Amino acid sequence: MRKIIIDTDPGIDDAIAILLALSAKKELDVLALTTVNGNVDVEKVTKNACKILEVAGRTDIPVYKGNDKPLVRARINCEEFHGDDGLGNAGAEDSEKEIETEHAVDFLIRKAEEEKGELTLVPIGPLTNIAQAVQKDSGFVKNIQEVVIMGGAEHGGNMSPHAEFNFWTDPEAAKIVFQAGFRKITMIGLDATSDVFLSPTLRELLYLINTPISRFIHKMTRVYADGHWEIEKKLGCELCDVLTIAYLLDSSVAETVDAYVDVETSGLCDGASVVYRTFYYPDKKQNCKVAVSADTKKFFEIFFGYLFPEYREFALREL
Ligand code: BDR
Ligand code: CA
Repeated sequence: MRKIIIDTDPGIDDAIAILLALSAKKELDVLALTTVNGNVDVEKVTKNACKILEVAGRTDIPVYKGNDKPLVRARINCEEFHGDDGLGNAGAEDSEKEIETEHAVDFLIRKAEEEKGELTLVPIGPLTNIAQAVQKDSGFVKNIQEVVIMGGAEHGGNMSPHAEFNFWTDPEAAKIVFQAGFRKITMIGLDATSDVFLSPTLRELLYLINTPISRFIHKMTRVYADGHWEIEKKLGCELCDVLTIAYLLDSSVAETVDAYVDVETSGLCDGASVVYRTFYYPDKKQNCKVAVSADTKKFFEIFFGYLFPEYREFALREL
């Protein structure tokens, strides 16, 4: 069983990623959720983390509040995609759950030390907390087994022609993480997540499945799907963060290449991840694997197989 901490800014796709992780009871041990400013402010994302745990019936999992702004830049949020509350204004009930008093960064450092080499970090928001842990504790990096990040893109961003939201929000933090020397980093960026789009048909199936979790996902994704229509004239919505969890459950869901990644922190390409595939740039020292595509069918097999196993075949029929 793999021990993971999800560093998150819920966020509609964050919420779905967390629900998928919690459904994989034999494979993933979710030790905690740590929160960070991103899709909405840190107060809201922290509240949302508790709401999601409530929906999943897992309020035993601790939530630690992290940074309320990027390392050096001003705060940026993304309500237009995730709704004012960050969860698609779906009316999710507030949770009574209390958050921990320790700061997320201090917790990450402490837990990494305790679990020495057995911890996988899954950052699915801006990388502020992770970068700060790297800066604060010289032993942090070597205590981490693996980092699976949702962020960046080899080709094409979603906030500028080159930059993806999580990296664009805090590029200095992303740069620190890629240069920190982690044993293993996988960057799951937009090149791969664009292959895992929730179609209107599968969204309707979630409604018809009619469990509290399926209805929660259906309701939350309304605003998200509206945003995709308004901005891109696309039907359905993306499930970016969810691919990180699917990848942990079955890494063959994404095709990866070895690469050296650096992050631009100024100018026209501010916030862009620059991906040097080591096959083409053998002089560059590999610092991560980059997901370049995802297997759509396999992804939804995992998604429905874990969350709603009895509907897996119905979902696959619609792909
Ligand atoms: C990323 O940005 C956020 O809006 C999503 O939650 C995801 O983490 C995609 O670019
Ligand atoms: Ca996110």
